Amino acid sequence: MSSLAGQPLEALDTPQLLLDLDIIDANLRRMFDAGEKRGVAVRTHFKSLKCAGLARYIHARGGRTFLCAKLNEAEVLADAGLNDILLANQVVGPIKARRLADLAKRAQVRVCVDQPENIEELSAAMQQAGVTLGVLVEVDIGMARCGVAPGEPALALAKFIAQQRGLRFDGLQGYDGHLQLLDNAEEKRAKAVHGLEQLVGTRRLIEKAGIPVRVVTGAGTGTWEYAAGYNGVTEIQPGSFVLMDCAYHAVRPEFGCALTILCSVISRRPAWYVLDAGSKAISKDFGSPLIKDHAREKVVKLSEEHAKVECDAANLKVGARREVIPAHCCATMNLHRQCLGVRNGKVETVWPIEASGRYD
Ligand SMILES: Cc1ncc(COP(=O)(O)O)c(C=O)c1O
Repeated sequence: MSSLAGQPLEALDTPQLLLDLDIIDANLRRMFDAGEKRGVAVRTHFKSLKCAGLARYIHARGGRTFLCAKLNEAEVLADAGLNDILLANQVVGPIKARRLADLAKRAQVRVCVDQPENIEELSAAMQQAGVTLGVLVEVDIGMARCGVAPGEPALALAKFIAQQRGLRFDGLQGYDGHLQLLDNAEEKRAKAVHGLEQLVGTRRLIEKAGIPVRVVTGAGTGTWEYAAGYNGVTEIQPGSFVLMDCAYHAVRPEFGCALTILCSVISRRPAWYVLDAGSKAISKDFGSPLIKDHAREKVVKLSEEHAKVECDAANLKVGARREVIPAHCCATMNLHRQCLGVRNGKVETVWPIEASGRYD
């Protein structure tokens, strides 16, 4: 595996998942500088990365805190020595509650909750393990997925947590996932601000009841700028901004597309060519991928191991290379076991993607 380091891209077999490190550096700088200027912490979502080497790379560039969607992702981070972790999801059932307790012994991990019986389950597991777990109430600010309604229902849950041994109420999470890919910027801003008002209003209500609220977190790559600097929000939690994809790039062109799949042309006709990677290597989530630097070449079909690309292909040679920009970077990282960090046309580093293909 490490024999790939130092190789020029032309020497690589295909398909390969490439990460352009210069583009990643620029994306990180843009987000972290903005966070610093606006006085908000940036907690990078690891579900977009799933790769400990890349998380360490981000840590070395100032991104000290991480968000996870799954317990296995949090464990991968802790194994990598990255210890400030928020699990932005419900962890349910005795097996996972024990795993979470074990994790809480070796990392500063917090978790989201939205149901009293889950809170009781976590409290019992933490007491048994002799640890205290930080807990955030997940507030539904319009996405209608997990979470409790803002206001009184969230306050009731915060009070309930405050009575449980083994748990510590730390704050609120409200994620506006329904707004991320909205392309009407004014509509997005207005809806995002409405959600933030609900979230911060809930914070005030809980504080009025005498319960401190240390953390208020939310937003993603599509809405980060509305939450960053919003009075009462302490963190933002975007993930896709690191690697990006063509769906997000259409609404957030300030972040560059760092993730591509390097492919070879394996067949051609006058009006199309076929690449050696399909939906098993390039996620179909969120639409069709793009061909980097070849705007006129249109991906019209992804089958399992083939991408069909329409264009004038009369002079294209079999074996020619193309880089494909997927429409969903997070789901694409989940399809691969390793990625190559590249710079100046050469492989600089090879990272395993430890959490890919895991759902536990
Ligand atoms: C809870 C939560 N927070 C934040 C995000 C933001 O991620 P991204 O920046 O990739 O949209 C997501 C995306 O799914 C999420 O589920």
